[in-house]
Amino acid sequence: MNSNKSNLLVPGQITNEKLSSTGVSGKTENCYFKLTVYNETSIRVQVSIKSEFSPNPYSVIASPEEVKFSWEEKNDHYVLKTKKIELILEKDNFRLIFKNSSGTILSEDAALFGINWQGTAVSCYKKLQQWEKFIGLGEKTGGLNRYGQTYTNWNTDHFGYGTNADPLYLSLPFYIGLHHDNCYGIFFDNSHKSTFNFGAGNNRFSYFTAEDGDLDYYFIHEKNVGGIISAYTTLTGKTPMPPKWALGYQQCRYSYYPDKEVIRLAKTFREKEIPADTIYLDIHHMEECKVFTFDKKRFEKPTELIKHIKDLGFKVVVILDPGIKVDEDYPPYTEGNEQQLFIKYPDGKNYEGQVWPGWCAFPDFTKPETRDWWAEKLNFYLQAGVDGFWTDMNEPATWGQTIPDLVQFNYEGQIASHKKSRNVYGLQMARSTNNGLANYHQGKRPFVLTRSGFAGIQRYAAVWTGDNVASDEHMLAGVRLVNSLGLGGISFAGYDIGGFVGNTQPKLFARWIALATFCPLFRAHTMINSNASEPWAFGEEVEQISKNYIRLRYKLLPLIYTAFYKSYQSGIPLSKSLSIDYSFDDKVYHGAYENQYLFCEHLLVAAVESYKEITKIYLPEGTWYHFFTGEKLDGDQELLWECPIEYLPVFVKAGAILPVQSVKTHTEDVKDGQINIHIYKGMGLSEQLIYEDDGKSTAYQKSSFSKTLIRMDFTANKLSIEKIAANYESEYHTANFFFHGMQLHKASLAGKKLEISHKNVAFLD
Ligand code: NOJ
Repeated sequence: MNSNKSNLLVPGQITNEKLSSTGVSGKTENCYFKLTVYNETSIRVQVSIKSEFSPNPYSVIASPEEVKFSWEEKNDHYVLKTKKIELILEKDNFRLIFKNSSGTILSEDAALFGINWQGTAVSCYKKLQQWEKFIGLGEKTGGLNRYGQTYTNWNTDHFGYGTNADPLYLSLPFYIGLHHDNCYGIFFDNSHKSTFNFGAGNNRFSYFTAEDGDLDYYFIHEKNVGGIISAYTTLTGKTPMPPKWALGYQQCRYSYYPDKEVIRLAKTFREKEIPADTIYLDIHHMEECKVFTFDKKRFEKPTELIKHIKDLGFKVVVILDPGIKVDEDYPPYTEGNEQQLFIKYPDGKNYEGQVWPGWCAFPDFTKPETRDWWAEKLNFYLQAGVDGFWTDMNEPATWGQTIPDLVQFNYEGQIASHKKSRNVYGLQMARSTNNGLANYHQGKRPFVLTRSGFAGIQRYAAVWTGDNVASDEHMLAGVRLVNSLGLGGISFAGYDIGGFVGNTQPKLFARWIALATFCPLFRAHTMINSNASEPWAFGEEVEQISKNYIRLRYKLLPLIYTAFYKSYQSGIPLSKSLSIDYSFDDKVYHGAYENQYLFCEHLLVAAVESYKEITKIYLPEGTWYHFFTGEKLDGDQELLWECPIEYLPVFVKAGAILPVQSVKTHTEDVKDGQINIHIYKGMGLSEQLIYEDDGKSTAYQKSSFSKTLIRMDFTANKLSIEKIAANYESEYHTANFFFHGMQLHKASLAGKKLEISHKNVAFLD
């Protein structure tokens, strides 16, 4: 390729290369490169026109493991081999071809211009493989299969976004490609504005481009999609165990005030016997929207108010906006100013932008000193009894959406422009907030909910999908967004139940709450001036439906909590797109079925519009049971299914073992010691863990937990229960067993006879 003529810079021929214990580095005619073997499944590729690479210090926390790999020189190429990946590196043009261990091509760079620069923008072009599908890329709207689409990563405050809008609040430059029964993942670790093109407007290439910085990506190969997500979260971290209260029902609105209104809200839940755990205080809790203040008129005695609410069994979460009002009488501003903690113009003056409080300065969360200062500032709320934080507007949002590109951020002492720093700002705000809770909240597990983020955000915060709209279309889009975040290792995610913008119709609220029962984050929220949007605000029928589903959520908590533990171990999300387990079944990508997903591994949930009384369902291979009636159904079939508003279509996978508890008023309510174990006839052997710990502290990280393993051998008709970890006292002393699709007449445990029940239990009251 003649770079002069084409205005395109390409690496050119390899001129030298050096082997080390973790990989190979070297030079080509026009660039520097480094290939690092992180482990058998992940190889990092760094290519730069500068002699020093400029890595993102925020996302990857893993270091290369000491694994065996080989490096061989052939005639016109080199071969780097791990147990799972074979990487061919062509000598004359630095073209990379990734293969699996049997030699099948997984991904190959375009010949001649696979890696190229146009000005400062760096791109990597990959040849489109036949029937290639692309999934993931985090908070991106659109369909499950992203083939034929293009997306931009640039964290953006997008009020009432359309269901095809892009970009939104959070960037996650990680996707998974699938073809010929193989899959691979690519994580492009560059925080500049980037674009991913999956064969949009062309029929030859998928490619990714960043405006500046290095080509720095991790190529991941495992035999299935779940393995790739696990490998990606080995690099960027797993979701830690949330406090148990954060898995209950959460009620929010913009905003509940004054104090009397908050108390009325809390009491109404208890009077109506609708379980709930969390109440949020949005921006009206502050004086003139100034963070670290309480409005004295609306909340005269905040500590007493919070105590009152907590005595009713609630936790309180407050919003945190990064914008600090420019006000010489406001200590957070004067301190930040004096200590040089804000983002700045190159002339050293603070950048000021307008947001809720008016003109604001913005803490530079890429500066360690700012993160420590902010973390400490949280004591203002912690001392008042606040339990968790909601980091909003952290793209960062300013009215007009523009921060000049030359504004400077500390970026861990490296000084970087807005162009490089914007996408990691929300990630660092969440990190600082999480650290504040970890350091100053008496050994309690942090709960942070964030709007913005970047790769690795799962380590610090749960994510919600911002300002959605009260429509059926948005409800389904929310499911796809949450599932797509899950494909990128963000397990704890959710959407505003009922929709943030606009007035929710009764049926829509009922359907949305039913659906969100099966969503990791279970939070209703709506905006200022919209109609009331609590479970009782839509008349008796909707109240009853909402109550039934919220109660169901609390019954399912042993399953959900255990699923969080599994996700903390594996990185695999609770809300699983069917593309994880049925990756090569074309039907799961079909527009009619792409909103179906598996929740906690065994529950297949079909998201259906509120106005539909009948819908098309696709049950993948295997056998399934209808969750509410126990009816047995063959898989590998499409069927029409009745879905009246009180029954969301939910199916249980054969072989599932579901641990279910009694309803509670809130997650820390008194324990009755009972657990119901539902076993759905399958084949061979099934296992289900029941994981328990104190639900609050970080002692689980030091093995302070209990694990009970339930094992059902369907061939021998044998059931066993075994304690496999007992460092925490189980809350259950009685287990009741329910068998679905099978009869079991005799059962014993450690010589004791067990009572068997064959009656079908209704999961909904
Ligand atoms: C924008 C957030 O997305 C929304 O959830 C919140 O209620 C408003 N800001 C007001 O704080």
